[in-house]
Amino acid sequence: MEKIVALCKRRGFIFQSSEIYGGLNGAWDYGPLGVELKRNLKDYWWRCMTQVRDDIVGFDGSILMNAAVWKASGHVDTFSDPMVECLLTKKRYRADQIEPQSGTAYYFSGIHLRKITSVSLPFQTHENVPAIERIALPFSVLVPKGKPEESARKIARQFYIGRGHVEADIVSLDLEKSEPLENTKLFNPENGAQLSEPKVFNLMFKTYVGATEDESSITYLRPETAQAMFVQFKNVLEVARKKLPFGIAQIGKAFRNEINPRNFTFRSREFEQMEVEFFVKPGTGPEWLEKWKEDRLAWYEAIGIPRAKIHVLTVPDADRAFYSQGTYDLEYEFPFGIQELEGIAHRGNYDLTQHAKASGKPLEYFDEEAKQKYLPEVVEPSAGVDRTVLALLCEAFAEETVKDEESGKEETRTVLRFAPRMAPVKAGIFPLLKNKPELVAKARAVQKMLQPLMKVAYDEAGSIGKRYRRIDEEGTPFGITIDFETLEGAKTAFTSVMGTQVEAGQTDTVTLRHRDSMKQERIAIADLPGYLLAAVS
Ligand code: GAP
Repeated sequence: MEKIVALCKRRGFIFQSSEIYGGLNGAWDYGPLGVELKRNLKDYWWRCMTQVRDDIVGFDGSILMNAAVWKASGHVDTFSDPMVECLLTKKRYRADQIEPQSGTAYYFSGIHLRKITSVSLPFQTHENVPAIERIALPFSVLVPKGKPEESARKIARQFYIGRGHVEADIVSLDLEKSEPLENTKLFNPENGAQLSEPKVFNLMFKTYVGATEDESSITYLRPETAQAMFVQFKNVLEVARKKLPFGIAQIGKAFRNEINPRNFTFRSREFEQMEVEFFVKPGTGPEWLEKWKEDRLAWYEAIGIPRAKIHVLTVPDADRAFYSQGTYDLEYEFPFGIQELEGIAHRGNYDLTQHAKASGKPLEYFDEEAKQKYLPEVVEPSAGVDRTVLALLCEAFAEETVKDEESGKEETRTVLRFAPRMAPVKAGIFPLLKNKPELVAKARAVQKMLQPLMKVAYDEAGSIGKRYRRIDEEGTPFGITIDFETLEGAKTAFTSVMGTQVEAGQTDTVTLRHRDSMKQERIAIADLPGYLLAAVS
């Protein structure tokens, strides 16, 4: 992961938000290459959902919504994680993410403090008399088996000092008892200090709408994009003129005040989702859940994440979200573990029922054939944009020992093997030498020809080998080199990739270099648009 994070910064994929001010935990900025990668991913999802099939329509809802939406959806009351706080450092953790530990627990009941008391004597004089005061304040520490009691005392001392007591005044600690513990989750794995009782912590970011900051102006940044699609179900249904089953698709930002943002962009506080709410006839939800699972698995393969790297988890009843009747998690083998990329949930008619009840507005669908009104069931494939970008980066990253294409010396090549349709830049365009105006002019002409069709990058700096290495690290699948053969004519006759016959001596051919195999071939400039478009679309 460290190598991937470093590459992301070096090449301009992802930067820490507000970096020059020390960053903001859980927020990330996408640089010039990252934004292209992210856009390619979102565009492809959008194309697959709303263009290639005709049973899903697009939608773009607002981030701020009436607070009643979040009350009705259940998010105000139940969208929360149990949180514990380290009594020593005040850092907060998700209670369910604390790793069980074993060791010896030391229970302190308080401290004895040296105190100087001023005693009044006759004739208006005073004397400072030392006294000992006992402060009762329980605190416990877990130390690994075999570590001395002193290490527990050290942590406990820090705790009491943190509560405002001066170190030099602490005479002794009151140790009540010690005992061995197995698999306990009551102590901070980072320092052994006692954790607080779990408290429920709502993950929604609260804000105020308008100039008055009171209860009536509270709303929340949306924690999922889904709710706007439920709330607007009736409006969309009327204008889309669709029959069930049909879906609404949306890509947009969501915000969650995660207790522990971690693993680079994996768990962020601001992120993007790609969600479909797919409305189906009552009783058919389970069957659609299976269909969507297969559809989505195929989609990940199409963006370059192999089926073998995706694990399908049937989420156990106890772990499902409050709205779900059945959920599959599609998980990817990240370097930090197998973790969720997308959730596919059978939400039943939970959301439409809740909003119909809370708003008093009917949200039923009228089935013309059955001449019946009912609330449809919903199957929801919900993918994370940032997590999928991270999976694409992890999947693409490779380091290999290769022979330098110019010197023939062995060296380490870092390469991002993105599927061409995801690659931020599709082709690098290189004049062999920058001080030959004819080569530069031809390279610029090739660039102009390709620019309206796809993202290409012109580069004339450094040796051609260095330029190839640079685009390898950026994941660009093709390198196009304009060389002397381009100007002077092909050395031998050949058939260009699209079937064009090139005679010996014919000008306007270039070297096409492939990122993954590093193979080079000759191609007619006229064949470039057709060949590249087919390869990257
Ligand atoms: N509407 C359903 C829903 O929001 P979810 O499983 O909570 O379901 C869906 O979220 C997807 O959104 C996840 O699979 C993940 O890819 C992404 N996601 C959720 N929380 C995230 C976070 N804190 N950071 C980055 N992505 C997140």
